[in-house]
Amino acid sequence: MAVASTNDRGSWNSKLGFILAAAGSAVGLGNIWGFPTKVATEGGAAYLVVYLICTFLIGFPVMVAELSIGRKARKNPVGAFKALSSNKFFPLVGLWGVICGVMILSFYTVIAGWAFGFAFEEIFYYFGWMDAANWLTDTGNGPKNALIASVFMLGTIKIITGGVSDGIEKATKTMMPLLIGIMVIMIGYVLTQPGASEGVREYLLPDFSKINTTLIFSAMGQAFFSLSLGMGALITYGSYLNKKENIPQAAALVTIADVGIAFLAGLLILPAMYVAKNAGIEIFVGDQLASSTDLVFQILPALFHSIGGAIGLILGVVFFLLLSIAALTSTISLLEVPVSFVIDEYRVKRKKAAWSVGLGVLVVSIIVAFNTSLIGTFDYIFNNLGLPIGGLMTCIFITYVWKTDSAITEMEFGFAGIRQTIFVKVWPFFIRVICPAAILYNIIRNFV
Ligand code: PFF
Repeated sequence: MAVASTNDRGSWNSKLGFILAAAGSAVGLGNIWGFPTKVATEGGAAYLVVYLICTFLIGFPVMVAELSIGRKARKNPVGAFKALSSNKFFPLVGLWGVICGVMILSFYTVIAGWAFGFAFEEIFYYFGWMDAANWLTDTGNGPKNALIASVFMLGTIKIITGGVSDGIEKATKTMMPLLIGIMVIMIGYVLTQPGASEGVREYLLPDFSKINTTLIFSAMGQAFFSLSLGMGALITYGSYLNKKENIPQAAALVTIADVGIAFLAGLLILPAMYVAKNAGIEIFVGDQLASSTDLVFQILPALFHSIGGAIGLILGVVFFLLLSIAALTSTISLLEVPVSFVIDEYRVKRKKAAWSVGLGVLVVSIIVAFNTSLIGTFDYIFNNLGLPIGGLMTCIFITYVWKTDSAITEMEFGFAGIRQTIFVKVWPFFIRVICPAAILYNIIRNFV
């Protein structure tokens, strides 16, 4: 077996590069598809408020924890837990994270493939090539799903083979500004269309009577998935982080970027739905809004088609490219977790690790592509349950094994005065009490 050189681990070239890569991991289908459609179907602005609270109070402290573990250990999630204690259980937690990453990636690429396919569907529709357009809109078509998911996975593997700074950092540095630019332009257009204001009201005027435990737990799960927590993605990204970087500050920037883009996505999708309603497109089934898949993969294409002409074409293509770019910056981090595990633990060179792991995951993706009902099952096991379990274990590891004080010592690199700030009192309390209690309650509820 080839021996991995120290260069195979790699490191970020700049702070901005790290922030954009970590924000790229965070910003994905969860923000642009998941968040707005959950806001729409689960409580409007009330959901937004609860989501913000969960992100900053539960998600942010766990992100700081994962980054500290990663930077201290300079290893993948399994190696990191091994390096920081002699406890035999916690490396299994790291391994669970790697498994969750692989399984989430397997269905994530299929959904990303749908989005990518719809960008072409808009073009085919414009030219009247209806057979090709209809082929792409059929989300249950196994061979089509497998083909596009494969293209998506190959693109992800190619970027990962480039390494941390020349692959991941370079790619995300180009894609993230593009993503924000596209969103702002689209929001500008949608908000000027008839019907948009009804969507804006639905999104921004909270009706607090809609808050109940179901909404709170949905928002908490969404926050975990959206911040890419609980499966070691940020342990891995933290392991490439320079000692001179300020971890709490970097985590705050990534959290703000993630929330900011989710907020913008809401400002795009909710008004767009009501613009569609205004144009005579059915967005309700009975008195319920259409399901999240239908909202993005049926109602929005119908809206772009009804706008028609060059504007409809451009909006449609650009929107689905936006979704594809967001998904790609996330699949990169999902694949990097198992790849870094193979590089570190089995001393395999990066290229070989990326191709073998990537193609292995692709086999699972192809199975999902032909059996799309697996998406719900995998999502429940590896996202709804898997990520909170990983997050809870991370809190327990820091509290009882590695200790919050060791984490604070690690954070002193890059944040010299940290012990004089309130952070050293508040963060450990959250990691010891608030986050585990909230997460545990969420897990139990999910089981029940
Ligand atoms: N944060 C991504 C999203 O919101 O779509 C999904 C994700 C990426 C989850 C990477 C976990 C992860 F490690």
